[in-house]
Amino acid sequence: MMSLIDLMNTRYACKKYDPSKKVSDQDIAYLMESIRLAPTSFGLQAFKVLVIGNDALKKQLRPVSWNQSIIEDASHLFVFCHYTGYTEETLQKYAELRASAQGKKPEDVLPYIQYIRNTISKYSAEQFNFWAAKQTYIALGNVLLAAAERGLDATPVEGFDKVEYDTLLNLRDKGLASAVVAVVGYRTKDEYNQFNKKVRKSKEDLFEFL
Ligand SMILES: Cc1cc2nc3c(=O)[nH]c(=O)nc-3n(C[C@H](O)[C@H](O)[C@H](O)COP(=O)(O)O)c2cc1C
Repeated sequence: MMSLIDLMNTRYACKKYDPSKKVSDQDIAYLMESIRLAPTSFGLQAFKVLVIGNDALKKQLRPVSWNQSIIEDASHLFVFCHYTGYTEETLQKYAELRASAQGKKPEDVLPYIQYIRNTISKYSAEQFNFWAAKQTYIALGNVLLAAAERGLDATPVEGFDKVEYDTLLNLRDKGLASAVVAVVGYRTKDEYNQFNKKVRKSKEDLFEFL
């Protein structure tokens, strides 16, 4: 089995997908699980991920994704959407989930829920959105590695118009906003980026021991 570092070295941002190759349902389920298990602030998972394998919808999204062909040709898109606010109902649901997952009584988790409420209730709308959007990037990292482990190609994508995505995917009505996208599928034989060497700063540049 490949080490995590080996996987990190083999994965790369694929720039050309074979539109005839579809990722299996089992692999999609595995990728979903890697997202579900991502750590999030307070464990709140203040996001939802749209899994899009529908060709017509991918075609519609391409022009508002800097016209990148990967959006149309990749097998599936994972559109990470963060919530744009929270309600007491959100916190209540989380309290129930937490209590049942940990075999506790609902009142046992209330101090923790109060701690969360105290913190996030102070956020402005802008701060909440920034905070929630950041969480999605951790899940994005997970899915990129999980894809590599399954022998799939993937590309993280920020090159899209968020306002257009929010409209086309009807996100505002659901209290959501698009943050980032991961596309997954299979490269074409002639895909050029697979032949490029990785470009990374040296350890000396990137780290500082204090
Ligand atoms: C948040 C984020 C957004 C990105 N957006 C795009 C994109 O819109 N289109 C694209 O082709 N590559 C995109 N990339 C890929 C990067 O260019 C690529 O990851 C980087 O050059 C490092 O190369 P590697 O992933 O091949 O190791 C994005 C990467 C990240 C992390």
